[in-house]
Amino acid sequence: MTRSVLIIDDEPLMRLSVLDALKAEGYQVQEASNGEEGIQKAKTSRYDLVITDLKMPGSDGLQVVRVCKECSPETEVIVITAHGSVDTAVQAMKLGAHDYVTKPFSMDELLLTVDRATKVQALRQENTALRQELEGKFNVDGMVGKNEQMRQLLEKVKLVATTDATVLIFGESGTGKEVIANAIHRNSPRCGQALIKVSCAALPETLLEAELFGHEKGAFTGALKQRLGRFELAHKGTLFLDEIGEIAPMVQVKLLRVLQEKRFERVGGTETIESDVRLVCATQKNLKEEVKAGRFREDLFYRLNVVQVALPPLRERREDILILANHLLQRSTSRVQRTMKGFSPAARDVLLRYSFPGNVRELENTIERAVALTQERDEIQVWDLCGQTGCPFLGGALQSGCGFCQEGLSNVTDTQPQGTLAEVRERCEREYILAVLAREGWSRTTASKSLGLSRKALWEKCKRYGIVTPDADDGDESSD
Ligand SMILES: Nc1ncnc2c1ncn2[C@@H]1O[C@H](COP(=O)(O)OP(=O)(O)OP(=O)(O)O)[C@@H](O)[C@H]1O
Ligand SMILES: [Mg+2]
Repeated sequence: MTRSVLIIDDEPLMRLSVLDALKAEGYQVQEASNGEEGIQKAKTSRYDLVITDLKMPGSDGLQVVRVCKECSPETEVIVITAHGSVDTAVQAMKLGAHDYVTKPFSMDELLLTVDRATKVQALRQENTALRQELEGKFNVDGMVGKNEQMRQLLEKVKLVATTDATVLIFGESGTGKEVIANAIHRNSPRCGQALIKVSCAALPETLLEAELFGHEKGAFTGALKQRLGRFELAHKGTLFLDEIGEIAPMVQVKLLRVLQEKRFERVGGTETIESDVRLVCATQKNLKEEVKAGRFREDLFYRLNVVQVALPPLRERREDILILANHLLQRSTSRVQRTMKGFSPAARDVLLRYSFPGNVRELENTIERAVALTQERDEIQVWDLCGQTGCPFLGGALQSGCGFCQEGLSNVTDTQPQGTLAEVRERCEREYILAVLAREGWSRTTASKSLGLSRKALWEKCKRYGIVTPDADDGDESSD
């Protein structure tokens, strides 16, 4: 990336030599012959770096530093100071200058200072980008998709986030329940306080009780000292109870009481503790069914079910699959500095057809694995998406294919009653060829035998339908 530098100095010779030296290093350089001109330029354009003399008639270097830092805090300023006036340089640093050089200086010395400043700047920018990515993960705006149901749901989340209402999030595994819980907290007035998470499924009954409400020293064997519970830690903040459907009846009673009275006692304690906590819960279970079956208290259910957010599974919002896939591909390629740009048409077909029982997380894992394990190329191919060693679709010896290939590739029935017979035949032909190729481990020789075609005929069809096979394929069929 070319970095832009502004040099401000009233001595033409000095200005010129710095300008030449920086240009020779590949910087994009502009100059100003006095403080006013420099300030004007800094106000109207953005520079990565400003190098300014401190002592100039009119507006001096200190004013330049002040204005630069005001207009564009991320611009680094280096000041040039006369021998014996280091005090002014220190003043400049207090105003936000990055560093100073003392006259007389060698060009190497200045270039070194410039290089250090730009490196610090690059690091900071990278840091900001990472932080933004991280924050994006917790932001409703970071949730990708155009499905109408999801859009409405996100609007609801934004609205409810600003309140203190208890939210109950439903959704299959990997649909984004935790993303929603994070977003609710991040967009709430409590965002400056803690977001405490507890997975209720991970702990047996008594431990869960102690985890949520804390315990006094000696409350039970092993309670060697007093411990604060999650309700206390989340005071003034948000408590996210994941897998709420798993909590045992005894803990349900205690939870109900906190919700009603906003107070509780630690396990083994008598002191009543006040708690101001916003509760967000998530579950994969149908809590109404749990209530009917007598496993979940009805009164607690109604207390929790104030605002309900139901995340649809990915297979019910297929229009989001490719949008998400591209988004996740971009995220993982930029993380590992790869350059794959998209998916081959066949890979897209398979993604669209697959049922994704693990929802967005499964898609995320599939893409991360494909990016990590495949060679550098422009497009992700079908076989990159299958990660199962031994999957017969990749020429392995297992009995049946991995779910991905089985569903995505072997289901060749054309369900859209649209188009002319020739069009439908072409669609089926393309899909069938693809499925057989995949089943035969992408060997065109074996696939052509199964299909009853010559290798040349298969080669022509592949060309026509844009079907690509891995580079390891056998020979040049065009001469067959
Ligand atoms: N709409 C979305 N846009 C971008 N990424 C998403 C979206 N939904 C989910 N994800 C990503 O999918 C992954 C799974 O999401 P999350 O952990 O929130 O699911 P979950 O419903 O809590 O799953 P589980 O029930 O297994 O705990 C996360 O890495 C998340 O970043
Ligand atoms: Mg989760």
